[in-house]
Amino acid sequence: FDVVDLIRAKRDGGELSDEQIDWVVDAYTRSVVADEQMSSLAMAILLRGMEFREISRWTDAMIRTGGRLDFSSLGVPTADKHSTGGVGDKITLPLAPLVAACGVAVPQLSGRGLGHTGGTLDKLGAIPGWRASLSFDEVLSQLGSVGAVICAPTSSLAPADQKLYALRDVTGTVESIPLIASSIMCKKIAEGTGALVLDVKVGSGAFMKNVADARSLAATMVELGTAAGVRTVACLTDMSTPLGLTAGNALEVRESVEVLAGGGPADVISLTVTLAREMLSAAGVDGVDPADALLDGRAMDVWRRMIVAQGGDPSAALPVAPETESVLAPSSGVLVKLDAYAVGVAAWRLGAGRARKEDPVSASAGVEIHAKQGAEVRAGQPLLTLHAEDPSRFARAMDALVGAIEIAPAGSRPESKLVLDR
Ligand code: URA
Repeated sequence: FDVVDLIRAKRDGGELSDEQIDWVVDAYTRSVVADEQMSSLAMAILLRGMEFREISRWTDAMIRTGGRLDFSSLGVPTADKHSTGGVGDKITLPLAPLVAACGVAVPQLSGRGLGHTGGTLDKLGAIPGWRASLSFDEVLSQLGSVGAVICAPTSSLAPADQKLYALRDVTGTVESIPLIASSIMCKKIAEGTGALVLDVKVGSGAFMKNVADARSLAATMVELGTAAGVRTVACLTDMSTPLGLTAGNALEVRESVEVLAGGGPADVISLTVTLAREMLSAAGVDGVDPADALLDGRAMDVWRRMIVAQGGDPSAALPVAPETESVLAPSSGVLVKLDAYAVGVAAWRLGAGRARKEDPVSASAGVEIHAKQGAEVRAGQPLLTLHAEDPSRFARAMDALVGAIEIAPAGSRPESKLVLDR
């Protein structure tokens, strides 16, 4: 094949054949097709879309560029959860040990944050000694002994996606449903999980800003997973305001530990339990209520063993930022808007996120939230505390928050529904 023919065909709205897709994905992974050619093809896909047959073949071709994991020797059901990314979304941290405490093994291959969204590996990286990179043998052994693993994907898992995702990130080609769906699902199918729950985020802090796009992404991913033999369910959940009361790495670990200790913010508890129920049900486990395992300490016990197994000290003090600055309520009334995207950008500018994949993140930086949407507030009370290692970060974080907060007269009720659809 000539890659220029494929680019022209897609540019003009044509469909790619199975053979063309197999060839171009493999050739790009081997650097026979150049970055500029693949970036042009990715843009044509973003603009013209793909038929389901093409998306399915593309996903399969990406899986075939690497190895597949196999957990069948464990003898217990496996389930994984994937979030499409948000602000304050620390749900994986309490969820993986909770589901493991209910008898389902959780091989949770996670990512790092990029842009305004946080990444699970960056959050856990705030725990002294904790290690993200494990070999497949280590993953398998930890799943057997502890029941839950949260780690980085091994480099042999869908290498085509690792290369293509980095390229899309710098060529304005991330926001394409065929490319997002195939990117997420090739890793989840190759990972070998038996069941998968997708938390598809909708709203300002998510990739998908409206429900119609989120629904379309969710339906595509469920169809891909189901066709590959993975029992796949998707929930559409709100990401117009941050989850919980923290956005930032160590801050989110602290909040997750509160949830595992039976406390924590209501929205984090509710989403953790909802997704745990979906994972248990998709894995075929009935009659266990995850809410009990959260309250009676069983999930906390798995958390501590999971952190220790990966070199971390679950009792160690977490890093604390030396500098803080408050954002005060400008008037009294009901907080009707606390925008997720703005808080995410503020946390990112404070140092919690990175601008380029290779940048380090600050463990202690981030945003602490004192009032959730719907709360009554008084003029002058602190709404947010910004945390940073360096006070020069505060001005740009404050800029990100302009227009992010709205206070309405007492008695107003903002819309608030966490799970929008299933
Ligand atoms: N997460 C992924 O893994 N891939 C995408 O394309 C978007 C989010």
